[in-house]
Amino acid sequence: MWGESMNIERIRNASLECKIMSAKEAAKLIVDKMVVGVSGFTPSGYPKAVPLALAARVKATGEKMKLTLYTGASVGAEIDGAWAEAGIISKRLPYQTNNEVRNSINKGDIDYIDMHLSHSTQYVDCGVIPKVNVAIIEAVAITEDGCIVPSTAIGNAACYIKNADFVIVEVNESQPMQLEGMADIYMTEKPPFRKPIPLMHPGDRIGTTCIPCGIEKIAAIVMTDLLDKTRPLAAIDEASKKISKNLIQFLEKEVEEGRLPENLLPLQSGVGSVANAVLGGLCESNFKNLTCYTEVIQDSMLDLLKCGKAVMASSTAISPSPEKMVEFKEEIDFYKDKIVLRPQEISNNPEIARRIGVIAMNTAIEVDIYGNVNSTHIMGSKMMNGIGGSGDFARNAYLTIFTTESIAKKGDISSIVPMVSHVDHTEHDVMVIVTEQGVADLRGLCPRERALKIINNCAHPDYKVALMKYFEDAQLTGAKHTPHMLEKALGWHSRFLATGTMRDRKIIKYNNKIDQSERNIC
Ligand code: COA
Repeated sequence: MWGESMNIERIRNASLECKIMSAKEAAKLIVDKMVVGVSGFTPSGYPKAVPLALAARVKATGEKMKLTLYTGASVGAEIDGAWAEAGIISKRLPYQTNNEVRNSINKGDIDYIDMHLSHSTQYVDCGVIPKVNVAIIEAVAITEDGCIVPSTAIGNAACYIKNADFVIVEVNESQPMQLEGMADIYMTEKPPFRKPIPLMHPGDRIGTTCIPCGIEKIAAIVMTDLLDKTRPLAAIDEASKKISKNLIQFLEKEVEEGRLPENLLPLQSGVGSVANAVLGGLCESNFKNLTCYTEVIQDSMLDLLKCGKAVMASSTAISPSPEKMVEFKEEIDFYKDKIVLRPQEISNNPEIARRIGVIAMNTAIEVDIYGNVNSTHIMGSKMMNGIGGSGDFARNAYLTIFTTESIAKKGDISSIVPMVSHVDHTEHDVMVIVTEQGVADLRGLCPRERALKIINNCAHPDYKVALMKYFEDAQLTGAKHTPHMLEKALGWHSRFLATGTMRDRKIIKYNNKIDQSERNIC
């Protein structure tokens, strides 16, 4: 009888019973050269059992398997780690944060397309990149009419389901049923038929709570209870606390000057430990009734909702640290009506970000003296993670802020450099830089004014003199609009690669001499 061999709360159509199979059986549907689109965004809401079964099979049999993998953003080690280790991934987009994948990208074994997350749906929908053959989707449940109730992330799930030849669904019994109702699935048409997205406020619901798929398209259902492997966050250190304090003081001043309303504008916050710390500081601030229009809900955003400072958060994923995930699940009824999960095409939509006036707060790896930001590459050529959604927001926000600690690697690297070794966000997008040293508000400043602001307010004292010397020397050599000495502009990076530090002995001597003469005057 229907229901005896399956969970009817999670699989609500009897005709689907015959499609339930083991992960191993379902993985047989995936063959060499396929394009695989998976649900998930950050290590949340991604399929786990089928990818693991596939990796195990390839490892055991040594069969030839090269797949193109499309995701929402990063996914857990059950896909990225296991597949990279098994050598299954030939091409990967649009974002990753996994060590194995990162190493394979930097060795040249995986071709990586690091792209704006809001572009990925359109590339698939319009056939710019190869078609999705199979979508593997994690679900809380499948409805009677074959719609997929997504779990902790939406990402590109709706787009991959729509475009796939067939769909494998992992129904995850560890994902709480209360997640049903948090999703708001709205999909856009292709140009020239695309209509304005009817979202006026971050909390508006404009779509459906599940993703249309259809019974016929579902080729396999796998029952699982594997947990999302979300990432732990580093403890909030002193530098991050100072960055957060500086940023909050800046926002308070903007309110005082009448450039921001008292409850600010919808907040977007980037990924990683620094971003989490920055947002954490808002819990102790005097701001009230905050709203969030972002792509990832990390620990601090849940805290903002919990402490009542924020009234709601719109996102495409819930990705707290493992400890916070436990808390989230226990208190899910509190969060249920305060969180809206959207496809990433909507959560990261540039038109919405501009119209509702998002305050975008993302993290830089390095910033140059004119305000260009590198968020992705270490020393110019080594991929870290990717641009993710930072560009979707940075170009289009009302206020675009980048935060970074002024030094990295125990001070051997200055995060403020003469010229960035890779550009993700140009000087035209970047409005404010915040480090633990201070804030540089670059709005309305010409490049030379920006350089003075950034060096004076944001650079670490150990590198200030060297940066100022570069800037002054550059003004003697050529055009004065954006003064550079091309032969020296990337010299700091070359010095680090050659010696292990950006510190310049000659400048340190010069610096000491100034200190000495100042002491003599005193
Ligand atoms: N040069 C070389 N390495 C640097 C560096 C620099 N200027 N600045 C930082 N690093 C290194 C750190 O030492 C650390 O290395 P480790 O992992 O070996 O310890 C690593 O980069 C991460 O730095 P950390 O200070 O821990 O920052 P984070 O966890 O906050 O991450 C980014 C910072 C930039 C890597 C991360 O925010 C990111 O990937 N951003 C791009 C995508 C994005 O913004 N998405 C959000 C859109 S909503």
